[in-house]
Formats: sequence, C-alpha cells, structure tokens
Amino acid sequence: MKLALIGDVHLFTLRFHPKRLLSRRVMAHTNLLMNRRHQFNHGLLPELVARVQALKPDMALFSGDVSTSSLEHEFEDFLSAFGPLIDDVPCVLVPGNHDRYTFGSRRVKRIETLLHALMPETFPHLRELQPGWKLLALDSAIPNRVFSRGALGERQFAQAVEAIQAVGHDEALMVLCHYPCALPEGVHHGWSHDMREAGPLQAALAACKGRVVYVHGHIHKPWHAMPGPAGQGPAFECINAGAPCMTSPRWPRGQGFWEIDLPADPRGALVTRHHAPVQGAEGLETLPDGTDPPGGGGDAGHGGWRVGAQP
Ligand SMILES: [Fe+2]
Repeated sequence: MKLALIGDVHLFTLRFHPKRLLSRRVMAHTNLLMNRRHQFNHGLLPELVARVQALKPDMALFSGDVSTSSLEHEFEDFLSAFGPLIDDVPCVLVPGNHDRYTFGSRRVKRIETLLHALMPETFPHLRELQPGWKLLALDSAIPNRVFSRGALGERQFAQAVEAIQAVGHDEALMVLCHYPCALPEGVHHGWSHDMREAGPLQAALAACKGRVVYVHGHIHKPWHAMPGPAGQGPAFECINAGAPCMTSPRWPRGQGFWEIDLPADPRGALVTRHHAPVQGAEGLETLPDGTDPPGGGGDAGHGGWRVGAQP
C-alpha cells in the first residue's frame, strides 16, 4: 500500500475582517505579515498536488495545520487547491493547532463542518490500512489564549492507549497526529509548543507489542528518524511531514511531501521517499543526500523534483 504524507500547508487569507482580528487571530496575522507572507509560497500547490496524484497513492494523510487562523476562506482555499486529489484518493486529515486556533472556531466546529470529507467524525479514529497494518488518527488540536499547546484529553488518550495495547506482536500501527510525541536528538522543543500527553503517549507506544510508525507535522522541517540504541533517539520510527509551501535557502521551492510504501510483512522495512521540488537541474547536483535521480512530474522550465530516502 502506498501512502502520501502531506504536512503543514498553512493557507492564509489577506482579506481582513477587523472584528475577527479582535481575538487571538491578531497574533497569527501579525506573524503572517511579519514572516509567513515571505516564507510561504502557496503558488507551489498545483505542482505538488499533481505530483502526489501522479504517484497514485492508495491514501493521502494530512498531518494538520492546513490553515493559519481557522478562517472559512483558508479551509475553502485548501479544498480548492487539493480538490483534484481529494476527489481521486481516500484522504485522512487530523487537525493542527492552527485549524482550531480560536475558541470561536472550536465552538462553531468550523473544521469539522468544512473538512468533513477528510476528517474522521470521531477520535481516536482506528482503521485497517492493509492486513497487519492499522492507522490510529488522533485529534490533538485545542485553542489556546497565548501558547501553542496541544492536548488529546483524558477520554481520547485512554481510548488511544487501549488501541495501542491491542496491537499484536506481528502487527504494525501507524499513528497520525499533528504534534510529535518523540523527537530526534538535538531538536529543540518547548513546553509552550508541546502536546500535553506527549510523554505518556510516547511511553504507551514504546511499550506497544507490535511495530510503531509515528507520523506528524507541527515542526516545519521534514525528517525520518529511526529508533536508536536504548536511550538514544525516539523509541520508534518517526516521520515528520514538514511544510510543503515554506521556502528557505535550504528549501527554495518548499519542503515537499513523503511517499511511504507499507511492506506486506508488518515487520519489513518501510520504503520512504521524500519528494522536494528543486530549482533547475544545477540544484539537483548541489543538494546532499540525493539517492535517486529526479523523477518526472516537474515543469522542466521551473526545475524538477529531488527524490531521496532522506530529505
Ligand atoms: Fe502546528
């Protein structure tokens, strides 16, 4: 089974509603005007969506933060940008903190209403991906007055632990959650950006009898971290989706997305390919870690795609 994993898209609108800025939303928009407008290039989306479709995944996973401040326009723009993919492929989306950014957006169930085609109705959401492989999707998004904390809540956490404990020795569990619960060595994190149950969830997953693959977003940097020797690195395999439209000198055309092939044997190695658009053929030679030649799907005039086992 082939999966596509797509991270923090962070669509935003510059159509201001003065009344609606009298909320925490003003922080998101100030941040946006100061930084995000210059870093996020949503013009990259059509090529990204076409590239994902060309791979013919069996399912697309969205790790949340498709919006910036949970406004209707942001969710509607997401649906129109990803419409061709959503029509074509089964999708599962978990919300990020920006998708339930204000208390008002939670009260009116904005993301539940507008993205009902992709978001499970209840959480935790458990489904079979293929024989031996289950998906556990978690909703960690809560509004905050100041910070960017996430939380699963007692009921969801308890049900998630039950699902984790039910995984057999010869089975595998893929967890999809906006927030990470375990990080590679050296990655900075802070209380104000973490998920409340990150520690207990990490412990429950480390104790899982079967194989665990944890996929998430929230930190705008793609990675694939393997479990290290005891005490080093995460206790299970973790894949960070990254932010497909966020540009920087390292990612001049955004951070791309992941293609993940699940092995038939739940204990077999995942085949992961990170797809990142690059500028011009010269860029392909100067980027480190490239393991495969660029595939098709890119516009030759703009550049191509760099495909590698690691970003
Ligand atoms: Fe986030």
